[in-house]
Amino acid sequence: MTALTLSTAAASGLRADAIVVGVAKGPKGPVVAPGAEAVDKAYDGGLAGILETLGASGSEGEVTKLPAPSGFKAPVVVAVGLGAVPEEDAGFDAEALRRAAGVAARALAGAKKAAFALPIQDAADAGAVAEGARLGAYGFDAYKETGRGDAAKSGKGPLGEVTLLGGKPRDAAYKAAIARATAVTEELNRARDLVNTPPNDLNPESFAAVATAAGKEHGIKVTVLDEKALAKGGYGGIVGVGAGAVAGPRLVKLSYTSAKATKHLAFVGKGITYDSGGISLKPAGHNETMKCDMAGAAAVFAAVVTAARLGLEVNVTGWLALAENMPSGSATRPGDVLRMYSGKTVEVLNTDAEGRLVLADALWKASEEKPDAIVDVATLTGAMVLALGNRTFGVMANDDAFRASIVEAAEEVGEESWPMPLPEHLRKGMDSPTADMANMGERMGGGLVAGLFLREFVGEGITWAHLDIAGPAFNEAGPFGYTPKGGTGSAVRTLVRLAELTAAGDLG
Ligand code: BES
Ligand code: MN
Ligand code: ZN
Repeated sequence: MTALTLSTAAASGLRADAIVVGVAKGPKGPVVAPGAEAVDKAYDGGLAGILETLGASGSEGEVTKLPAPSGFKAPVVVAVGLGAVPEEDAGFDAEALRRAAGVAARALAGAKKAAFALPIQDAADAGAVAEGARLGAYGFDAYKETGRGDAAKSGKGPLGEVTLLGGKPRDAAYKAAIARATAVTEELNRARDLVNTPPNDLNPESFAAVATAAGKEHGIKVTVLDEKALAKGGYGGIVGVGAGAVAGPRLVKLSYTSAKATKHLAFVGKGITYDSGGISLKPAGHNETMKCDMAGAAAVFAAVVTAARLGLEVNVTGWLALAENMPSGSATRPGDVLRMYSGKTVEVLNTDAEGRLVLADALWKASEEKPDAIVDVATLTGAMVLALGNRTFGVMANDDAFRASIVEAAEEVGEESWPMPLPEHLRKGMDSPTADMANMGERMGGGLVAGLFLREFVGEGITWAHLDIAGPAFNEAGPFGYTPKGGTGSAVRTLVRLAELTAAGDLG
């Protein structure tokens, strides 16, 4: 993964493939952002004019490449748009820096080394640039000719190395910000890898093996219940969803504990390694990207490992509810009744509403430990994508203040989310003539119906929130900012932030 260092070196003397500078959109044309003074001076103060001549405006996402000034060791200057010039001396917000760094890193794919001279005012800014650069430099070519280790056929790999200029390499706050960015981005990119891995290689068993190995590496206790243990334990939801697949289901528990913790958070992830819909089979056009249906579990996994790497003073338990949803002679049928881990019975009216079934068991199991709060993350409904689009996840909760804190935490780390309600009147749509409830209700407000279903499986008195990441988990469009095509790592940063806030006593 892209190496990252802070340096106080002068841009002119740096041996690199490019120097990255920021350009903002001013009222009268492009404005060179702070951090690039030395570069601008080497152009005799004419960088803004040159950029304007080249058609640059400073708008977000814009990339302009130009020959470096004479005397520079690096051959190219890459000017990346930061958007509007901030008011007075407010400085650029962290997300503008993150996105610009990501755009620059993508534009430099194939390069060995680049120096980033972006506007950094404090350690948090340095962390944002570091995050953006490493998230933007992500690539997934494990299944391409270029990714098979044959040097002759190697294509444009990700940018190899980033030197951040303008920070304070020996300052403790800067060091901590870089260390945090390193851990978060490494684990987030690993979550992206898991989402991008094709479902013939990533199934419940192999996902559990990845979690077990990571647990050993980072001092996290991992326990895995296999299909036999799940059946014996009465996990009817997970067993029912996994019943049609050759690769059996798993429930993985990851426990990170800190000796200094006073709070306990539980994260629960939907981990459908492939969602065909089951007997209620999805039509062509709806199943091509369904390897992404384990993105919630990948986010939970990444967040627990990050919490451990950062040594956060909070106990975090991650639950990965893993199953493959396939049709076959042994699959659950529409009309079957499952006895869930909580003891409730559920009539399965649509086998494609499987996420709520595996989550229900994991939520009830997580509740038994009486954590201070439970947050589940799931690519749960197409309805949420219709409601909020491809970049925003919905947040539902049994506590309004908790829901607001989550939306705020997400915003802080640069993730878009929106609070959604759990309207009581939608509950009766899930009444079943045969069982305690059905796994489907009214079509309208389908994302909220799914949230109401989950709520029934949260233990009494436990604060709970549900993040429906069906929209932002997988990017089918082109890359933007620091977000690549394919798996995005949605919700990882929000979960890590929640763990940090809980450790600091600022949440719950
Ligand atoms: N995994 C899907 C939801 C999904 C849709 C995720 C699009 C990502 C992108 C989920 O299991 C599903 O199939 N939900 C159904 C529920 C319905 C049958 C009640 C849906 O949303 O159509
Ligand atoms: Mn489904
Ligand atoms: Zn699904």
